[in-house]
Amino acid sequence: MEFKRVVGTRRSVRWLKPWRQVEREKIQVMLEAANRASRSMNADYPRALVVNRDQVSSEIRESLRNPTTSVELDLAPTYIFWYFDLGYVDGVQDRLKELVDQHALSPSHGWSHAYVDSFLWPQVLKPIADNMMALMFMGATETGIAICNSLNAAVDQGLGTCLHAFTAPEKVKQAFGVPDTWIPVWLQLVGYPLEEPEAGGQRPRRPLNKLFFEGNCDTPWEEDLEVTESLKQDGMIQAPGPFSYREEEVRMLSQMFGLPR
Ligand SMILES: Cc1cc2nc3c(=O)[nH]c(=O)nc-3n(C[C@H](O)[C@H](O)[C@H](O)COP(=O)(O)O)c2cc1C
Repeated sequence: MEFKRVVGTRRSVRWLKPWRQVEREKIQVMLEAANRASRSMNADYPRALVVNRDQVSSEIRESLRNPTTSVELDLAPTYIFWYFDLGYVDGVQDRLKELVDQHALSPSHGWSHAYVDSFLWPQVLKPIADNMMALMFMGATETGIAICNSLNAAVDQGLGTCLHAFTAPEKVKQAFGVPDTWIPVWLQLVGYPLEEPEAGGQRPRRPLNKLFFEGNCDTPWEEDLEVTESLKQDGMIQAPGPFSYREEEVRMLSQMFGLPR
């Protein structure tokens, strides 16, 4: 799928085929996409624990339930528990120097091994490493960037996916040997969509001029309508919901699983 169509087609899919496993290859593509995401300091923030739903004991599955995530836990064949490793700062000097050696960071922009060792680490990075709030903020942000690639890679491969609150991390930790330094972020549920790929239409978003500004914060970003039109052609902007059949679709899916309608 073209990039713009992937972005436009992605939406949180909550109806998945419980009987159809996701091929390991497709999960690998998602993990690789996450690993290719940009990251500050070239540090390795994200960690993912991939588990097949049927390997999750009923006790753990029950403890993962929360008001916004319940049905999906039964439907999704693959769970990806996303974390970041608090130890991500370990070795960042070496990772940055790797980039210097690769000429990705060059003297033209002030980079050298000496700059990393004698200024950047002691003056900028070490204070971050010593500040728990900064560590948590960066860990969560950077893992979110990686997860975004994973979501889009799922869509690109015809999968349905949605992020969910990650409840009961202590139980997951015990059950699957999660290291003490891993901080839970989100639970990504993955499977083949049971609903139409449109999943009832593209989800509502406020227009660009409500969110983004140009030059100063009194001047909203004005969209060029020709660009908007081309994004419709290319699939980044798609028909909004609710589709005429959506209510019936949800009603029948609910009936299939004996859920409230
Ligand atoms: C970080 C994150 C956490 C989310 N957690 C939940 C959740 O716990 N339960 C749920 O049903 N949806 C969850 N969602 C999905 C959002 O509710 C969803 O983004 C929204 O319904 C519409 O956007 P979308 O369909 O374009 O993704 C989460 C999404 C994100 C990005």
